[in-house]
Amino acid sequence: MPKTGTTAPPRKNSAKTPPSAAAKNSSKPPAAAAKNSSKPATPAAPAGSALEIKDSRTSKNYTVPIAEKAIRATELKKIKTDEPDDAGLVSYDPAFLNTASCRSAITFIDGDKGILRYRGYPIEQLAENATFLEVAWLLRHGELPTQPEYEKFVHDVTYHTYVHENFRKFLEGFRYDAHPMAMLNSSIAGLASFYPTARNIFDETERNISIIRLLAKTPTIAAFSYRHVKGLPFVYPDNRLSYVENFLSMIARMSESKYEANPTFARALEILFILHADHEQNCSTSAVRGVGSSHVDPFSAVSAGVAALFGPLHGGANEQVLRMITEIGSVKNVPKFIESVKSGEGGRLMGFGHRVYKSYDPRAKIVKKLADDVFKVVGVDKDLEIALELERIALSDDYFTSRKLYPNVDFYTGLIYRSMAFPTDFFTVLFAIGRMPGWLAQWEEMLLDKEQKISRPRQIYIGQAERQYRSKLASK
Ligand code: CMC
Repeated sequence: MPKTGTTAPPRKNSAKTPPSAAAKNSSKPPAAAAKNSSKPATPAAPAGSALEIKDSRTSKNYTVPIAEKAIRATELKKIKTDEPDDAGLVSYDPAFLNTASCRSAITFIDGDKGILRYRGYPIEQLAENATFLEVAWLLRHGELPTQPEYEKFVHDVTYHTYVHENFRKFLEGFRYDAHPMAMLNSSIAGLASFYPTARNIFDETERNISIIRLLAKTPTIAAFSYRHVKGLPFVYPDNRLSYVENFLSMIARMSESKYEANPTFARALEILFILHADHEQNCSTSAVRGVGSSHVDPFSAVSAGVAALFGPLHGGANEQVLRMITEIGSVKNVPKFIESVKSGEGGRLMGFGHRVYKSYDPRAKIVKKLADDVFKVVGVDKDLEIALELERIALSDDYFTSRKLYPNVDFYTGLIYRSMAFPTDFFTVLFAIGRMPGWLAQWEEMLLDKEQKISRPRQIYIGQAERQYRSKLASK
């Protein structure tokens, strides 16, 4: 009999390690972790690859090595005046517009050319041919799984889909209209309380089981939140089904003895999960890396990613696109809406623009085609015309073209999700399920990277100079 999977397989020193001991062990990477570390520091710059800087304040010259088209910001610390309190130059880069926070081997994006690759494989090929769990393995391990590796991985994920029964009570504590992203976020953080040994983050076995658990339980928690809002009984995982079919079963199953997902929906959702699986150092991934850099457990680190994804400028955009389209209401209102965006009165054109892509988001191209496949089954979404008109007008308008604003992944996904009868506020949860393997791969890469330390940006202090305390309270 297979285990239902709420606990890890028996392992030396794992289940019995008390939380305090786990915490004690967690902050120091042991030799095992170091062995797996990614390659050390940037190779030395070839002769001549350097930035010559002249400080006009002191007339001193500095040579800053260039490697991998980057300079080390810490080199700037050496540039200082003779003033005793001068700690050296810092670089100022709000929102990290031009600062690399890590070296990563996971995802490559060329924003000008519209290229996205996971571990070197073009997103188009993965979307066409791979399964989501294959991609999840690839992101973490760097290579596609062999047949035995894949079978074991699928088995492990499948048999950890159950959540502790206390989760029922936990989710039942939320209001009937709680936003599913708020439920997902707190539930994922809550997993840390069920698996205290996950704090042994430099124990490879612990990391592995935590990663399996997060991949396995996120769809279950997501589906339970959906059923909670609908007032429907929770449907338990069905280990006979594939990852995506099982998720759809937990969402949609009623009294059928055997649930069969619509194959077009199942494949479309699998492709959407693959398209969302990673996207290098975006806001939520940076949140996972940043929080994880304090050496907290992975459940807590990943919940920070869910929180970041919730925002309308990030994953929450898919929900906002649909709300925007619904508000526009009709194709004839599109020109007026576009004018309101341009004047700043109507807010942003949601689902357009990207920090990195300055041409068509390659994911959006695939999503647009996918929408056609889904619409062939369920009929064309009533608002597709509005979306197409928004895109047509925006792509021929100088305001958008001069700023290189093109549809991003979120522009058409909402229409697909709605065709599958997902409620609008559930869209970002679907993004989160897809992004989970990326967060986990990036979290582990950060942990094993010897160059990484606790994330701690500098600031430029612009507040008051020292002053004396004089109370303004009447009582003093
Ligand atoms: N509609 C109208 N104007 C826009 C938009 C938009 N969607 N996006 C950017 N702009 C304008 C912006 O006002 C600014 O104009 P100006 O130079 O005159 O001040 C210029 O374009 C540059 O914008 P920015 O805010 O500096 O660009 P950013 O790189 O900081 O923002 C973004 C990227 C994705 C947050 C932004 O394009 C946006 O808010 N888009 C709408 C929300 C959205 O669709 N988000 C999903 C992103 S893709 C999924 C994901 O990875 O999360």
